[in-house]
This record gives sequence, structure tokens and C-alpha cells, in this order.
Amino acid sequence: MVLVSGSGTNLQALLDAAADDAFGAAVVAVGADRDGIEGLARAERAAVPTFVVRVGDHATRAAWDAALAARIAEYKPDLVVSAGFMKILGPSVLDAWPVVNTHPALLPAFPGAHAVHDALAYGVRVTGCTVHLVDAGVDTGPVIAQEAVAVRDEDDEGTLHERIKTVERRLLVDVVGRLAREGWHTRGRRVRFGRVAQ
Ligand code: GRF
Repeated sequence: MVLVSGSGTNLQALLDAAADDAFGAAVVAVGADRDGIEGLARAERAAVPTFVVRVGDHATRAAWDAALAARIAEYKPDLVVSAGFMKILGPSVLDAWPVVNTHPALLPAFPGAHAVHDALAYGVRVTGCTVHLVDAGVDTGPVIAQEAVAVRDEDDEGTLHERIKTVERRLLVDVVGRLAREGWHTRGRRVRFGRVAQ
């Protein structure tokens, strides 16, 4: 089950990977917090069910979170993937499923919604992407996988983000496939693939 808010290229990478049974996971549904986005169109083209749960349609953030959890539950997913989903998830979702997020920076550097801008503004020479478990904080959950991307002198936010996203899509597909095929366990904050904790 994948949550999106935008163009959905990470979703597309998962849909493409899941077309092969050997991937080990299927995208059972795609949820969004807004209408009219390319991410939903990508799901529809792949004949994957979609739903939209808008924050503005609910009296409180907690009510939105509960409504989102109720829609997710209809599809009985093993895992929720936040792939460019630009809302902070609450306990109704987080207590019910493991949630994996992809973030366009090397956490804990540059959390939040403007990670690529912030990395450029700071002047770092290397940034990258992080796939991590979601907890109650903003981009604070345990890291599963990271990959570095060098910043070029001529980069602007757009060029750097596109290069990060190319890596991000590959990393997210790799992580979701491995989680599905191998299982995973944690020791403290350390996430490892494989079902048996050492
Ligand atoms: C990704 O870089 C994701 O990490 C960030 O927003 C972007 C989403 O891209 N939060 P897309 O919608 O998957 O194309």
C-alpha cells in the first residue's frame, strides 16, 4: 500500500517492480491526501485501487488520521510506503502498520519538506536519500538504507532533486523488495533484513 501527494515517480518504480512476481510484493492500493495528482493517475493506469482522504474534510488531525487508517485497513496491507506523501502520519496509522518513508537527504541531516533546498543552501558537497521507518517525529525514524549523491557546482534545487530521485527510486524498490522477501527486525534503532533477530 503506497501513499502519495505528488508526481508519484517513486510509486511508478514500485508498480514497475511489482509487475514481476519475483519482486515479492504487490501494490494493493494507493492513497493520497489530495485529488488530481499524477500519482493517482499512475495507479489508475496500473489498475490499482485508489482513495483520497483530505485533511480539510476532517474536524481534527486525529479524525483525518483515523479516517486514513480506516481506508488503508480495507486493503489489509503488510506494509505502508510513504512515497512523497507530504503529511505527518498520526498514531492511527503508525500503530497499525509498519510505515516506510523515502526522504531526499541523508538523515538526520535536512529533515522536513525542503530537504534538497536546505542541503544546497547549507553548501554540503554530498547529500543523498534515506529510506527509513516512520515514527511519530518528522523524518526521525530508524534508518533502513541510505545512498549518497554528490552535489555539483552547477546544481539548482531541480537538477539536484532529479538526480537524488533517480537514486531514491532504485533504493526504495530495493528496500521494499527485500523487506517483502526477507522480512526484517530491529535492535534498538538498527534495522536489519531477515526475520530472525540475532
Ligand atoms: C521524493 O524526492 C520524496 O522523497 C520527496 O518527494 C519526492 C516525491 O517524488 N518527499 P515522486 O512523487 O515520487 O515523484
